[in-house]
Amino acid sequence: MMTGSDRRGMAAPLRRQGDRPPADFTELLRVQRDACRQIGSDLYARLIGHAITRVDRPGPIRDLLAPHAQDSFGSALALRFLGAVHRIVLEGRAPELAAHYPSVGGTPGPAAEAAFEAVVAAHLPELAERIHDGVQTNEVGRSAALVGAFLEVAAGAGGGGGMPLRVFEVGASAGLNLRWDHYRYEAGGRGVGDPSSPVRFVEPWVGRRPRLDRTCTVAERRGCDLSPIDATTPEGRLTLRAFVWPDLVDRLRRLDAAIEVARRVPATVDRADVSTWLPERLAAPAPGTATVVVHSIVVQYLPDEARRTLRETVTAAGEAATPEAPVAWLRMEPGRDGAEVRLAGWPGGADRLLAVSAYHGPPVRWLAS
Ligand SMILES: C[S@@+](CC[C@H](N)C(=O)[O-])C[C@H]1O[C@@H](n2cnc3c(N)ncnc32)[C@H](O)[C@@H]1O
Repeated sequence: MMTGSDRRGMAAPLRRQGDRPPADFTELLRVQRDACRQIGSDLYARLIGHAITRVDRPGPIRDLLAPHAQDSFGSALALRFLGAVHRIVLEGRAPELAAHYPSVGGTPGPAAEAAFEAVVAAHLPELAERIHDGVQTNEVGRSAALVGAFLEVAAGAGGGGGMPLRVFEVGASAGLNLRWDHYRYEAGGRGVGDPSSPVRFVEPWVGRRPRLDRTCTVAERRGCDLSPIDATTPEGRLTLRAFVWPDLVDRLRRLDAAIEVARRVPATVDRADVSTWLPERLAAPAPGTATVVVHSIVVQYLPDEARRTLRETVTAAGEAATPEAPVAWLRMEPGRDGAEVRLAGWPGGADRLLAVSAYHGPPVRWLAS
């Protein structure tokens, strides 16, 4: 099964191309190479660029990738491939390539491509298996894009000011963003969240920022995912780390810190499809709490039917909402200039664009007054 990926700059091509196979195999790789370069992973841009030069020539890279020539755009073949190789590096089984991977203390050098190809040759059967695994990420930086909206709900957007929140996350992956209130956010000399948290966002907003003098309690946090990851296990942690691009070490550090938080703050992520899970969660109102349905970079992976169920389920719960049991729908999904953070709140049902963010989180352009 193909699960999520974590791409900035690739969202637009993916949405445009749908889930069709690319007309030209290398086109798929080129899109991913360019997106990696745009986001700041020169190493991955180089390695994918190298793979593009090898797909037409006999050798291990062609042997590995040729059976996937018909894979869809949305399946992010290059990222599955590179994630499978990164896992081997993280496990300490590819010391020559590790010398080029900042995630394990290396520095990309001119021999990176050759070392990469040697690892592909040495681990071909394993990689041929692993390359089927969907990209599975959980980007903690998105909490910085979402926190302002959670605080709006806590302050009474749609009613329920001061009530504790009941947070239901669709496509929660490892549930790291379900612990958003256990991270620290600081700007302009103010801060919100846990001051002792190992996950710290300093000046994540550009321009305006949300009000940070609000407080909020989370009464319940729960998510669903088709392939949930338990980040507190060695295997879960390795999977999440393997899909972070190795030269984006700040993201790796943030992920490690969030896993530390996850060890002490429980959050259930059910292995379930949104289509069955969400209607069950929202079946009964919960007076005295403000219910928030949240998702980030998920909708593009849902089939039409599941998208419809999501929208209709939240809308129906919203229409049944009362001031004692308000409902909010918080989304961080691809827009024209980045990920748009939107919040609808019931009673009332007003839908607002609160912020536009980079796909991995900061910088976040806060738009609400
Ligand atoms: C790009 S990831 C985003 C994960 C997380 N929301 C984040 O921002 O880090 C998309 C997630 O959606 C999940 N997903 C895809 N289809 C789903 C479905 N029908 N029901 C529940 N989860 C789904 C995937 O397994 C994956 O974990």
